[in-house]
Amino acid sequence: MPRIRWELLVLAIICWQRCQTDVQEAKRSLGHVTVVVVGGTGDLAKKYLWQGFFQLYVDQVGKGHTFSFYGGGLSASEKGTPVLFGILKDLACPPELSSERCALVKEQFLHLSQYQQLKSNEDYEKLCQQIKQQVAQEGMTEAGRFFYLSVPAFAYADIAEKINSTCRPPSEAWLRVVLEKPFGHDFASAQLLDRKLSGQLKEEEMYRIDHYLGKQVVSKILAFRKENKKLLDPIWNKHHIERIEIVLKETLDAKGRIQFYDQYGVIRDVLQNHLTEVMTLMLMKVPSNLSKSLEILQNKLNFLASLQHIDSSNAVVGQYQAYNVEVQEELNKTKNFFSLTPTFAGVIIHVDNAQYEGIPIFMISGKALDERVSYARVLFKSDVFCVQDPNNVLCKTKQIIFYLGHSNLQYPAILVSKNLFKPELVSSGDWKEVTEYKDVNMLGLPLSDYYIQSPVVLREAYCELISQVFSGRKDNFISAEGLLASWAFWTPLLESLSQVYPRIYPGGVSNGNLLNFQVRGNQVAFSHEAVVNVINPGVDSNFQIMQGKYRSSEMISAWPQELVERLASDLLQAAQEAIVEEGQFHLALSGGSSPVALLHSLALDQYTFPWRNTHIWQVDERCVPHTESGSNFRVIHDLLLQQVRIPYFNIHPMPVLLTQRLCVEEDGGATLYEKEINKYINASSFHYILLGVGEDGHTASLFQDTKLGSAEEHLVTLTESPIKPHQRMSLTFTAINKAKKVGVLIMGKNKHELITQLSRIKGESVKYPITKVQPKNGTLTWYIDYDALLG
Ligand code: BG6
Repeated sequence: MPRIRWELLVLAIICWQRCQTDVQEAKRSLGHVTVVVVGGTGDLAKKYLWQGFFQLYVDQVGKGHTFSFYGGGLSASEKGTPVLFGILKDLACPPELSSERCALVKEQFLHLSQYQQLKSNEDYEKLCQQIKQQVAQEGMTEAGRFFYLSVPAFAYADIAEKINSTCRPPSEAWLRVVLEKPFGHDFASAQLLDRKLSGQLKEEEMYRIDHYLGKQVVSKILAFRKENKKLLDPIWNKHHIERIEIVLKETLDAKGRIQFYDQYGVIRDVLQNHLTEVMTLMLMKVPSNLSKSLEILQNKLNFLASLQHIDSSNAVVGQYQAYNVEVQEELNKTKNFFSLTPTFAGVIIHVDNAQYEGIPIFMISGKALDERVSYARVLFKSDVFCVQDPNNVLCKTKQIIFYLGHSNLQYPAILVSKNLFKPELVSSGDWKEVTEYKDVNMLGLPLSDYYIQSPVVLREAYCELISQVFSGRKDNFISAEGLLASWAFWTPLLESLSQVYPRIYPGGVSNGNLLNFQVRGNQVAFSHEAVVNVINPGVDSNFQIMQGKYRSSEMISAWPQELVERLASDLLQAAQEAIVEEGQFHLALSGGSSPVALLHSLALDQYTFPWRNTHIWQVDERCVPHTESGSNFRVIHDLLLQQVRIPYFNIHPMPVLLTQRLCVEEDGGATLYEKEINKYINASSFHYILLGVGEDGHTASLFQDTKLGSAEEHLVTLTESPIKPHQRMSLTFTAINKAKKVGVLIMGKNKHELITQLSRIKGESVKYPITKVQPKNGTLTWYIDYDALLG
């Protein structure tokens, strides 16, 4: 008995201590909260932010915190105050409050709010003085300061500096600064912005907001995947998924926001952020625990790193017709000004991992389209053959749709076709199963063919995220690493699109099929010819392929695309001839930028090109591991070999890495490659060698200063390049001049000078190694595009 009493006493003491700690904890975290909305009279603040802060106040009132709200703007107080109060008076009542209660709470909210000019350092100092004084006068402790920067991104660094130098709260209170996108313009600018901000604010103080992460459906994607893991795991892969679509269509245009929009365009405005976040949540590895932020972040980063590189061949872009006039008007441009900013984009994305490889992910968004809708859907392959009754639910499309809102269905929802499985509810308290169906169709199926779940109470994304900032929850905000990883993926596409003319579309339903696009290989193109194209890039499309002589050999010239297509078709012909004669085709490909377009074009020719009998060799290689992006083999691998069905044993990369070191003479890599050539190729005579030429006249990795000496008798040698990486492996002139056919591909304006120089030289010149290319028994053909030829 005494023993039991003693244990009870210990328990009581522990309980009391714990309760005391909880009370202290609560006291510490309660206190006064100051909210400052910088840009508090702007568009976003008016539309969403104040409503979010009002909701926060409604949720928190009476729970122990006290608040003050400041709307900051550049105008003086006399001008800003009525604007702010105009906004606050119009705030809607949350549905959970009676109108009397709402009127009372709103009155208090207005009473706690004020306008504050925030322009100069002094303005910020004044604001902070005021916060301090108020807290001191009323004998309160500060819980934290919540800054919401709803201003153009160029102002962030300056404001962060002001907050840091004059407005930090006392050390026991928190500081949270919310930043609105855009976070930079591309990878480099995002990195720079990040560097500037992290000099002023700690990472845990920054909340980079992407309002899509606050949308109720988006915030439940991971939970849905986890709840239904058992059913999803077997089908969430390339064997079952046919395609994925991530779509944000808008009827609105960019009028009134051109100042911002024209610098960004649709890819930076919504694809790089909102739609990338949705894609990531759908395809990243589901974390073992949904509240482990670190694991979530790591899985997100792993996913973003597994995306295949994209460039302009993976996208189609458009611009609504009225846009350019809006730009001329809003940016005060002349009538001759043409903006290339896309207002529509369709992109195809592929994931480079065993689970998803080959699944096309279509991401699209556009302004001035026929309807407003946003959703992400996973369409599954059909594996049934319905001999009878094709309308039976089992025979219909199988899909899962994360429906974010608008259009047919007015509420956000997750829909699973009934012929897939009945999903678990993502959250039993606040989500419900929908059982009453409107008579509408959703992406090909009537609503009654889906299991549908939807949130019980609809909440605006901004309300949700503002409340999460208040609670210090960062899971649904963008981390610095995540941001940079996303920019790293999008930047190459943005760069390669910078000079691309968008297809002009009339807007709304009249767009018809003008923006439809389709997959070709792993690339995309518009499905239909444009009927109208207001922007005329000035290319004379009748100027077709020209044949002539250059340096006494055959020359073919055309605009880049036609030229590459012609070269690809000449290669096909050479391959077919070689295979008829010898049963195989030996093709050696160069590195550098010129062959890239050709590799793309060859990759499209999956079926007619005799890949099974083609051997791929290298003309030259940089002494870097094949896995690095600077490796010529890596380029051939990524752009061509991965796309076509070529037997592994027909692939002959140059052995630059032997005994764990790169291009060391004694390792005999060059000799090894030579032996391999002798072993496979009749008389060591390649059927086709494709060369490029550098601006300095070098070809393969044979430079002006390359002294071949006795290596000239060999087929392969190590050389030194004047530019990095210096060490190279290359075919020699002996190997090149033994070939049956040699093609030299020269593209781009920067080669014009070289073309002119070479045309003046007869025979060989030490200065220009390319002049030593003179096949003994074969043919030499120059493929020169008009940019290089005409300058
Ligand atoms: C914003 C973009 O971030 O998202 C807008 O700047 C776009 O251009 C908007 O219209 C779309 O958001 P929602 O919530 O309407 O789908």
